[in-house]
Amino acid sequence: MKFLIINGPNMNLLGKRETNIYGNETYKDMIILCEKTCRDLDVFCITTQSNHEGAIVDSIQQAAEDGFDGIVINSAAYAHTSIAIMDALKAVAIPTVNVHVSKVGEREAFRQIDYTAMASLCTISGHGINGYKEAIEYLYNYLNNK
Ligand code: DQA
Repeated sequence: MKFLIINGPNMNLLGKRETNIYGNETYKDMIILCEKTCRDLDVFCITTQSNHEGAIVDSIQQAAEDGFDGIVINSAAYAHTSIAIMDALKAVAIPTVNVHVSKVGEREAFRQIDYTAMASLCTISGHGINGYKEAIEYLYNYLNNK
């Protein structure tokens, strides 16, 4: 299996940005956790991060070209605004799990719309970087039971 892990704007600042909301674990810690989780499951994974909406759409389209089986995405602020990312996920129809590090459901009203969730199997929110591990395991089990 091949999974693509996509991170949106400012996720590269994890561990430095608003640590009261996003925690002290860094972007690098998250990448290491994703890589270890995939290695343990014998899943090939690539991790990406971009601050640009179009680049994220390009990665989703490329994932289909490259035969990825699953996507884990934290589109960050674009979750709440980007119809383009939602449309790209629907277009490629690769099973996707949506992740948010923070408890988005308990935050501001403007974060309560999640377009990325509308193109995902499920959303894991508020579990810190462990949410990525859970998302990888969810996708793995989902694909194995299909
Ligand atoms: C986030 C939640 C978003 O609302 C926010 O814009 C982010 C990070 C999270 O992981 O909790 O940048 O996706």
